[in-house]
Amino acid sequence: MPQEDLNHLTLQDSCLDAAICRYVLEHMSRQTALGALGEIHRCLRPGGLICAIDLDGYLYNIHPRSALVDKVIRRLMEMDQFDFHIGRKIPEMLQMVGLTEIKWKVEPIAFQGAELKEEITLIRERFDQSLPFLASLLGSEVQARNFIEEYINCLHSTDTVLFYNKFIVQAEK
Ligand SMILES: C[S@@+](CC[C@H](N)C(=O)[O-])C[C@H]1O[C@@H](n2cnc3c(N)ncnc32)[C@H](O)[C@@H]1O
Repeated sequence: MPQEDLNHLTLQDSCLDAAICRYVLEHMSRQTALGALGEIHRCLRPGGLICAIDLDGYLYNIHPRSALVDKVIRRLMEMDQFDFHIGRKIPEMLQMVGLTEIKWKVEPIAFQGAELKEEITLIRERFDQSLPFLASLLGSEVQARNFIEEYINCLHSTDTVLFYNKFIVQAEK
């Protein structure tokens, strides 16, 4: 199937038996996410299923954190295009677009030892890819790099806790 914008699917109404939407909603504003879920609802056949999976707490559930890390996370939270708590909102959003029989479960993901090391590498890669965005948010590339280093330093501290909650939500049309 070709790639399409979830907000403007060219698929016909009621043509899908099932849809999986994994780690996608977290990249959207609430309005865009509701539009995307509305499109999936349109394309599902009556009785068709959706499974939406997203993290809750990504980047946010780090403790303790420095004042700079806390300030930047709060600024990111204020922006419409990020929602570090998207996971917990999926059941509500599925209901808002008309889906029913909503069932959800949460799988905690905790990072310690080798898993933490691996996650630190991934987080650094994602931050590096977002450097232009972080630089525009924080005023300069230097400030952005300071933030990235401080976040990574927090992760290296032996008393730091990092965890996400994976929400797995199923619903029916
Ligand atoms: C973190 S990746 C997840 C990829 C894959 N679903 C998975 O579970 O591994 C986020 C994906 O969301 C897709 N995405 C973001 N906004 C989208 C939109 N409006 N329409 C379709 N896909 C979108 C991106 O193309 C990207 O592939």
